[in-house]
Amino acid sequence: MSATSLSVQDPSRVPDDNPLVEGLERLPVRSTVIVIFGGTGDLAQRKLLPALYNLAHEGALPDHIELVGIARRPLTDDGFRERAREAIGRFSRRAPDAAVLDGLLRGVHHLSGSFDSDGLFDQLQELLSELDVSTGRALNRVFYLATAPEFFAAIVDQLGRRGMHEHDGREVRVVIEKPFGYDLESARRQNHAVLHYLDESQVFRIDHYLGKETVQNLMALRFANAFFEPVWNRNYIDHVQITAAEDIGIGGRAGYYESAGALRDLVQNHMLQLLALLTMEPPTAFEANRLRDEKLKVLEAIVPPAPSEVAAMAVRGQYSAGVVGGSESPAYRSEEGVAADSRTETFAALRLHVSNWRWAGVPFYLRTGKRLSRKLTEIAVTLKPVPHLAFQSSGSVGVQSNQIILTVQPDEGVSVSLGAKIPGARMRIRPVNMEFHYGTSFLSESPEAYERLILDAMRGDATLFTRNDEIEALWGIVDPILSAWHADTRSPIAQYPAGSAGPVEAATLLEDGRAWRRL
Ligand code: BG6
Repeated sequence: MSATSLSVQDPSRVPDDNPLVEGLERLPVRSTVIVIFGGTGDLAQRKLLPALYNLAHEGALPDHIELVGIARRPLTDDGFRERAREAIGRFSRRAPDAAVLDGLLRGVHHLSGSFDSDGLFDQLQELLSELDVSTGRALNRVFYLATAPEFFAAIVDQLGRRGMHEHDGREVRVVIEKPFGYDLESARRQNHAVLHYLDESQVFRIDHYLGKETVQNLMALRFANAFFEPVWNRNYIDHVQITAAEDIGIGGRAGYYESAGALRDLVQNHMLQLLALLTMEPPTAFEANRLRDEKLKVLEAIVPPAPSEVAAMAVRGQYSAGVVGGSESPAYRSEEGVAADSRTETFAALRLHVSNWRWAGVPFYLRTGKRLSRKLTEIAVTLKPVPHLAFQSSGSVGVQSNQIILTVQPDEGVSVSLGAKIPGARMRIRPVNMEFHYGTSFLSESPEAYERLILDAMRGDATLFTRNDEIEALWGIVDPILSAWHADTRSPIAQYPAGSAGPVEAATLLEDGRAWRRL
């Protein structure tokens, strides 16, 4: 294993501690070693390594960066380098430039071993010291935990027992992938284990939705425009629908998905994060703790259902055989690795209320599912109808409540529906849309969520990461639903054909004549 260093940029360009770089758009990142536990896993190959490549391509990485992959399988440095090269070639959003890729991969290292073995951490400690020596200065360290969750606490424990959670006046940060916990109790235990050695400011719990440009745009939309805030409350908003529909199934992840299900996989994290950003009070600064304080407040205002209320406010479903995008899809229970009598939900829909002054009485409807008719993540805010229509009844037929639709993916953008007069002698109205599309407005491709998040973790900016109390508040909301569903081993799980909009039972959550938006 070599301890060579690599220089992705001209070293004279951004010296390590140069105060002049402050204020430049590209914020300074100190020289860093990134250690990826699970370096040959799916996430590292599909997302993390391509994200690092794209950061290198944009010159956003520090002058000096070292990359250490750790996996159980035996692999040499060269073997890891070749796998990384292949993964980047396959999954990077832009075709790799040979020089940048060679620069990035010149100094990669690989260690093999079980994630909780002493031997592995002996080797790691030695390698990190060698890298400091060969670089000529202590490097910041980022430990990226992209392993199965049962190893998170063991890895942090190993680091802590050896004093590797601190480093010679440099920063040590730990990025932890989802799922963080399995329920409220296990999330608390995990927080406890992680924070035994680490300070909260060193911990970066990932929710990749927070790294998506369009999710951050939700804050720009709300807090950089004057005309939304006056209507952003119970006086003007009738209801909100948040949809995270996927056409894909579970791929090769039956092992994980069978014990997770849609509620844990998407609602507890991504969807509730969208809800929090949509409903929180304006933070006084876009700064990690200010923002997370506001999210926490609003999450705590979501009253978790009592066991007797679960059936009326949550619907689960499972896909049966069908056709998605022209291809036949098997039923969930026939997927490889799934039990023939599985009760795991592949679809979940909820009605939630935010019990505070701003939102009391406004229903928030959330739905997510695998193998639905198409991929769509959107937030649809429907305003109340106007109080009086002065047009003759025929003219009023086409009048609909205004809607503000934020499309997170695909076709990223925002659209506002307005009632407009149909040209002609008569006063007839129909809805039209005012649209903003990312693609046409900015003419540049958005970075992948992981690019932003890896860079933020290296810089120590936790604004887009989930804090310990926040993660527990998120689990607190879904925990009673999980328990009620777990306890109910008899009632049939609603089925929906793959390729459809989900189970018809989901409609029962919407009251007062409301309907789910078309998928
Ligand atoms: C992950 C879930 O967190 O998010 C997956 O584990 C899901 O099941 C994925 O497919 C969706 O992410 P995206 O960015 O494709 O919407």
